[in-house]
Amino acid sequence: MLDVTKIRSDFPILNREVNGKPLVYLDNAATSQTPQQVIDVIVDYYSQYNANIHRGVHTLSQEATDRYEQARQKIQKHFNIAEAHEVIFTSGTTHSINLVANGYTSLLREGDELLVSAMEHHSNIVPWQMLCERTGAILKVIPMNEDGELLMEVYHNLLSEKTKLVFCNHISNALGTINPIEEMISAAHKVGAAVLIDGAQAAPHIKADMQALDVDFYTVSAHKLCGPTGVGMLYGKSEWLAKLPPYQGGGEMIAEVTFEKTTYADLPHKFEAGTPNICGGIAFGAALDYLNSIGLEAIATYETALLKYATEQLLQIDGLKIYGTASDKTSVISFNIEGIHPYDIGTILDKLGIAVRTGHHCAQPIMDFYKIPGTVRASFSFYNTKEEVDTLVTAVQRARNMLL
Ligand code: ALA
Repeated sequence: MLDVTKIRSDFPILNREVNGKPLVYLDNAATSQTPQQVIDVIVDYYSQYNANIHRGVHTLSQEATDRYEQARQKIQKHFNIAEAHEVIFTSGTTHSINLVANGYTSLLREGDELLVSAMEHHSNIVPWQMLCERTGAILKVIPMNEDGELLMEVYHNLLSEKTKLVFCNHISNALGTINPIEEMISAAHKVGAAVLIDGAQAAPHIKADMQALDVDFYTVSAHKLCGPTGVGMLYGKSEWLAKLPPYQGGGEMIAEVTFEKTTYADLPHKFEAGTPNICGGIAFGAALDYLNSIGLEAIATYETALLKYATEQLLQIDGLKIYGTASDKTSVISFNIEGIHPYDIGTILDKLGIAVRTGHHCAQPIMDFYKIPGTVRASFSFYNTKEEVDTLVTAVQRARNMLL
């Protein structure tokens, strides 16, 4: 059992009021809140050892370099990654996916096929469409059913020797579906395709093991797991990272530069041009420490119970429909009330101090599938409570009564 009262005291923002009401923060799938333990690490960096890394012999630079590389090792350990150089620091999941998509330009030929799931975030669709435009490769969609579950039989039939890459989220940001990525990865490997999993929504709930999954690429954003914005990870197997050309040119990513020719640095630096988000990387490591001090299994158990309770309570409301009813699902509830625009519900909830996301959640194809403009999305974290769920349910009921 989690000591949620104690956990909540770690998050200063949870004490504030919004529109004269205590904040009920239920937009965790957009970004999670930051505990004092991580805030302290950020303050410590800027007040004690702010310096550029890998560049100076002076003490501050060495301290910053050590802490940054220690953070890389924490990430390596957390995700059970074989080699520290397989952890590439990026600005987040979008950057990570674009890095891979850009690199594949030289690895694809016209007519090669890429498979994308029907429930992707735009960041796991658009870079691949751009790659197809550059190369003549073909993007094919793995469809889903009304519950928001991938049609695995269709997936298996889509795979062929033409398939070069498969991309899918581990957990859907709009529906909460936990996808069967183990099965997807092993089937893709049988036809020689590589797999990129967008782990942005999964990382705060599931401790994904890169070696056990045998995944080729996995992407994470620190701000979804109690870390800061603007920093994330690309995990890539060494053999793939070695094949991909650098994404950006600049300082740090070179071995030697002359005007005639430049040679590139070894991994991970080949993909880390320019001064990185040093403080962010260190704070990413601190965020993992924080989550591990609570335990991801305990977090998942707690959030699953909260999801069940919230689902049952919300479904009591007349006309409320939930989108995303997969049997394997995490703590995201996307819903609408018949006859009411999601934006209107979100606006009333905000007046009552409740933060939810409204709209298409950067997943327009999902909204097209359900023929809706968007949803209201409440996403729960381990610092949310049953009482907050009750506040949400009462507020949604009130919004319904006002708007219908
Ligand atoms: N991807 C984030 C979300 O789902 C921003 O809200």
